[in-house]
Amino acid sequence: MTDTPSQQYSGPRRVFSGMQPTNGLHLGNYLGALQKFVALQDAFESCIYCVVDLHAITAGPDPKELAAKSREVAAAYIAAGVDPTRSIIFIQSAVREHSELAWVFNCVARMGWLERMTQFKDKAGKHAERSSVGLFDYPVLQAADILLYKATHVPVGEDQKQHLELSRDIAQKFNNDYEAPAFFPLPEPLIQGPGARIMSLRDGTKKMSKSDPSDMTRINLTDDADTIMNKIKKATTDPHPLPEAKEGLAGRPEVENLVGIYAAVSDRGVDDVLKEFGGKGFGAFKPALAEVLAAKLAPIAADMRRLNADPAALDAILADGADRARAIAQPIMAEVRDVVGFWRA
Ligand code: TRP
Repeated sequence: MTDTPSQQYSGPRRVFSGMQPTNGLHLGNYLGALQKFVALQDAFESCIYCVVDLHAITAGPDPKELAAKSREVAAAYIAAGVDPTRSIIFIQSAVREHSELAWVFNCVARMGWLERMTQFKDKAGKHAERSSVGLFDYPVLQAADILLYKATHVPVGEDQKQHLELSRDIAQKFNNDYEAPAFFPLPEPLIQGPGARIMSLRDGTKKMSKSDPSDMTRINLTDDADTIMNKIKKATTDPHPLPEAKEGLAGRPEVENLVGIYAAVSDRGVDDVLKEFGGKGFGAFKPALAEVLAAKLAPIAADMRRLNADPAALDAILADGADRARAIAQPIMAEVRDVVGFWRA
């Protein structure tokens, strides 16, 4: 890949991020991504949050369900606190320029760069030659998402770090190849701290995931208080009491995860939580955790239900978001077309 890229871009700071419209969202998505999306609205003037349905079709979702899933993720953004009047919320496929810029970037990115992407290797497994070209090309489309808005900051999970590096390499090579050194910014990842990594309730070494076959491994954003209590009570722990301090969590990943969730949800430090619960058993801690979780998620679930019950209102928000996204994207795409040298009447 390119050597240390040099940042010459001097345009405005802008946040862009996206989530796939796959199965229901869970606590890991909320604490890891959505909470961050919300907080960034106060730190940046321009935040753009996309539901990436073009990316989703690399996994062949049911066409009868795709639009509903896209709406549901958009509803979760709003329910979590992303304000559609301040931020732009939209569905990726509604802005055609994402696909157009991805094609230009296909001619900038090198095969060797993509062949190194660990997420493709993980997803394709042993059958890379039978994967769709789209799955291989996924990170190029991601670069187009970000750079179509000349976004400078991208909140993502640790697992997206390599894709962000690829976005920087594509931006840098485009700028070099077309002798437009300050055209695209080299976008920076905003990676959440390790404290926000939420693990499976059954196995503290695995990430909480929507693709885990067991629903008992995760807390969904729409779970009610009884379901949360049941899942937390059945969460894996060990027979020892909670430790008095952070150091005592070493080698106890499940316990560390539950304490971390309590701290994140109640906006307290891990040490502070252990000061209260250290020495106590899980019979005391688990109901307390379920209670703070249920209290945190109840208003989000209620808001999601309200938004999902009125798809026309939600669609109006998404149509407005797509208009505002296009208003930024189209002039930038027009510039790209000029830089590349496409015909223009
Ligand atoms: N690949 C990202 C993920 O799975 C989703 C995504 C698509 C994205 N386009 C993006 C994230 C642009 C940030 C910016 O999490």
